[in-house]
Amino acid sequence: MTKKCTMTGLVAFLLVAVVGSHHDDVREGMAKQLLIRYPSVKTTARAIGDESKAKVEKASGRKLDLPGGNVEVFEAGDAIAAFSELKENGKSIFVGVAISPQKKMILSAQAFDESGKVLSSYAPFFVQFARMPYGNPLVFYVPTERLKSLIEKSEGKEKEAGDLKAVIKMYGAMRMTDFLWPMIKNEAGRNEKGAAAKATDLAAIIGGLADIAGGATFLDAAQARQMKDSAVKTQAGLEQLAKMIDGGQFDDAKKLIKDFRPTRCDQCHAACEKIFYKKAYATGMSAAYFYVGHDVLPLAGEKGELSQNLADAVKKTILLLLEAK
Ligand code: HEC
Repeated sequence: MTKKCTMTGLVAFLLVAVVGSHHDDVREGMAKQLLIRYPSVKTTARAIGDESKAKVEKASGRKLDLPGGNVEVFEAGDAIAAFSELKENGKSIFVGVAISPQKKMILSAQAFDESGKVLSSYAPFFVQFARMPYGNPLVFYVPTERLKSLIEKSEGKEKEAGDLKAVIKMYGAMRMTDFLWPMIKNEAGRNEKGAAAKATDLAAIIGGLADIAGGATFLDAAQARQMKDSAVKTQAGLEQLAKMIDGGQFDDAKKLIKDFRPTRCDQCHAACEKIFYKKAYATGMSAAYFYVGHDVLPLAGEKGELSQNLADAVKKTILLLLEAK
């Protein structure tokens, strides 16, 4: 049953959270950033029964601290989101996860500091969760042995190497695109010049797809040509967009953004609809984008414990969202 939120506690897996009206505002702000694609976000308190609590505790291996037996859930459209708290060097990190229970998919995941600001140094780690389907049982591994062996194979001389390389590169690029493009749109919408640097980064990523068909045996000549044209055109469009934003021409930038996906991005999507997806599936990379069996890549330069804790927090938050009634 869903009821209106009064002042429920933040769900804490590793410690008891401090609760107060100030924190309510901070969490609502975080939830809005997590559910950035939705026009409005509603805060609700959902009950976790004893049976559900035991289930989450068993699956997560940790005691669950639930003030009032409730979990704070944020709702927007078909999405629901919640937060978990971790401590790193005495400071709190809030791990937020938004899922679509209908699509059985993680929509976004992100870490925030105590003031509700996105911890941008962790963003590359959380990109891998965006649009990752989740199954039953819910498993994430750190690190990713299977993917590593596939990447090694893609660097070898095997006949498959070109195909693997193309799929890995494409999925990596689209994950970054799915991360950067909404940020560019939102920041440009707020007349923020910071969007220019992101558009420049994305232009380089998409430009790198111009030769994606090189070595891939599963694309025919027409598809390869159309993808190349689209990558070049998309790259040029993003470079143009970066210039407009940098020059403060926000009205022009917004106009360009409005038509951008149908006139550029989607040309490539139409050329290669489901081909990469099917190939990823066939090569054992699973449908969970290219992360095998929901393997998780650790944060660059990090020895694994923090990455594991962050991945665990994502997993536990999803379990909670699925149990909350
Ligand atoms: C050179 C080709 C190419 C370009 C250009 C391109 N994409 Fe993609 N994109 C792909 C492929 C391939 C997939 C995987 C889909 C599949 O295999 O069915 C994909 C998947 C995606 C996905 C995830 C799956 C989905 O359908 O939601 C998103 C989001 C996405 N692209 C956004 C964009 C955006 C935004 C742009 C433009 C800024 C863009 N793409 C430009 C090739 C491209």
